[in-house]
Amino acid sequence: MKYQMNRIDFSFKMVNNTRGLIRKKPSQPFPDIIQVNEYYNIITFIICNAPFYTRRDLVVEVFEAIQTRRSNGLVTEQDVSNEVIEKVLKAGTWAPSHFRTEPWRFFVLMGEGRTRLGKVLAEIAELEMDDPKSDSNQKKLQKILDKPFRAPVIVAVAVEPNVPSDRVIIQEEYGAVYAAIQNMLLAAHALGVAGYWRTGKPTYHPLMKKLFGLSEKGEVLGFLYFGYPKRHLPGGKRKTVQEVTKWITSDDDYDAV
Ligand SMILES: Cc1cc2nc3c(=O)[nH]c(=O)nc-3n(C[C@H](O)[C@H](O)[C@H](O)COP(=O)(O)O)c2cc1C
Repeated sequence: MKYQMNRIDFSFKMVNNTRGLIRKKPSQPFPDIIQVNEYYNIITFIICNAPFYTRRDLVVEVFEAIQTRRSNGLVTEQDVSNEVIEKVLKAGTWAPSHFRTEPWRFFVLMGEGRTRLGKVLAEIAELEMDDPKSDSNQKKLQKILDKPFRAPVIVAVAVEPNVPSDRVIIQEEYGAVYAAIQNMLLAAHALGVAGYWRTGKPTYHPLMKKLFGLSEKGEVLGFLYFGYPKRHLPGGKRKTVQEVTKWITSDDDYDAV
């Protein structure tokens, strides 16, 4: 069987891996037409070059995912499989962290696992109420109890800062976990799962810390509600890059900032 392939801008490294694919010395330019005689060689060629091409596609896809991700709270009750959730969590763990401290902690709440969160949210709200027994407050508390049931899965994300340490800076530990959250929202979006990052004052309450068994320095930084979208939201809005950016190309530019 004889195949012909058009000139392709692959890296030499990859070509070198495809033993016997191209019978040309590396110093010579690649031929316009590559003749491949065996089926095996074509498969090898595709496999060896796949990372190269998919990485290129990824540049476009990542940018698109960043721009099309929305906070979408309208989700169905359809379960999100453990496999999908694990992919999302894995994306979280690939966030950068200074000194690779990996200060993120995840708690996956599903099914009845969401009930206690509602109870603690209500308990915290009750502490702020003068008369929790009043009709209106009872209604409010019921609504709060139901909150975690707005999505089939909630991932509570917490930071456990690696301090005290000579090197670790607490803001950076928070920053790493925030980066992990964004990774997770993007990964979910890429998998067709809607995500919603929810917080509010009770998130940072000592009772919340206690619920998740966090240390004194630990903190819950968000509840990520995940589920399959009931509807897709229109595109979001942002300030222009120009509005939030100053280009500094000379010493004098600092005086104008
Ligand atoms: C730290 C943080 C906390 C947030 N907490 C809430 C929240 O409690 N409730 C809420 O409706 N949205 C919350 N959001 C989501 C923002 O409202 C949302 O990202 C913003 O409106 C932009 O919309 P978009 O994500 O669809 O682009 C939070 C976002 C961040 C970064």
